[in-house]
Amino acid sequence: MKNILITGADGFIGSHLTEKLVSEGKNITSLVYYNSFNHWGWLENVNCKNDINVILGDIRDYDFCKKITKNQDVVINLAALIAIPYSYQAVSSYVETNINGTLNLCQAARENSVSQLITISTSEVYGSANYVPIDESHPTKPQSPYSASKIAADAIAMSFFNSFDLPLTIARPFNTYGPRQSARAIIPTIITQILSGNEELKLGDINPKRDFTYVEDTCEGIALLIGEKKTFGEIINIGSNNEYSIQDIINLIKEIMAKDIKIIRDNQRVRPQKSEVMRLKCDNTKLIELTGFSPSIDIKEGLKRTINWLSIDENLAKYKTNIYNV
Ligand SMILES: NC(=O)c1ccc[n+]([C@@H]2O[C@H](COP(=O)([O-])OP(=O)(O)OC[C@H]3O[C@@H](n4cnc5c(N)ncnc54)[C@H](O)[C@@H]3O)[C@@H](O)[C@H]2O)c1
Repeated sequence: MKNILITGADGFIGSHLTEKLVSEGKNITSLVYYNSFNHWGWLENVNCKNDINVILGDIRDYDFCKKITKNQDVVINLAALIAIPYSYQAVSSYVETNINGTLNLCQAARENSVSQLITISTSEVYGSANYVPIDESHPTKPQSPYSASKIAADAIAMSFFNSFDLPLTIARPFNTYGPRQSARAIIPTIITQILSGNEELKLGDINPKRDFTYVEDTCEGIALLIGEKKTFGEIINIGSNNEYSIQDIINLIKEIMAKDIKIIRDNQRVRPQKSEVMRLKCDNTKLIELTGFSPSIDIKEGLKRTINWLSIDENLAKYKTNIYNV
């Protein structure tokens, strides 16, 4: 399990996972979403830049997927369109990327006899919790086109395990946060607005509750699945088994940053009522039992690290703090 292809390696979680697996001595090929600037996204900022094989391309292209999965032991698919608000506007591109992209990688992994394909799902597939903590038997409910595309992607992938014995593991992270997360996510949105000196914090609904997991713990959870045959054909939650409302997170950030700031409800950020997922809390028992996973960064420490990273001018400059990032 030495040669590993990570798709979406240019993104938030993918760049951290790349760094982690390089530090563990793996041979990493990192797929960056094709762009004419030859920009490597967050991989531009990693220390292991010279120790990875970077390729640019697109998971929507089957022939390309077939080519890049050749001679790989493990393929980890993090490439996706992930913003919920943008999924209201561009449903077809979510279908193309998240569903067809996953199908392409399943077919390519099968053709090339890859030893393990790990696809990355999301807790959003569960919709507002019927019960907490949410275990893997909880029903799924597509409350957004993003969630629907991930439910379908998971189903396609699982059908390849059931029909063709594809060595497949589906990892299902809950909300992940930390350095390099885009401003469309709630924690960077709050911190960057405060850091840029705004008098008011513009937000959508602050009542939803989430299980927040620091990015290093999410990556640890994914890394522990590599080479674990007992995870084949399984869906496995990755999360901390905690629960905080957005209001709780605002209070913690205000306390750490020693800033008081007024919250303004910005209607363009409020999701349609039936679409907003009100509660997600992870039951991570399966991951713990299968791998011995133990999240190590609590919310206060994780928020401090995220605030410290965003407080560096060079990092904050990458965020457009005064506009709403869909
Ligand atoms: N961030 C979270 O809280 C969270 C929680 C649960 C699950 N996930 C899942 O984790 C994965 C990574 O999420 P992230 O937060 O790092 O998001 P991200 O947007 O930072 O990373 C996704 C990457 O995929 C790339 N990409 C998009 N379309 C592509 C295509 N057609 N071909 C190749 N690359 C393409 C993008 O360039 C982007 O860098 C996604 O599958 C997401 O659904 C994220």
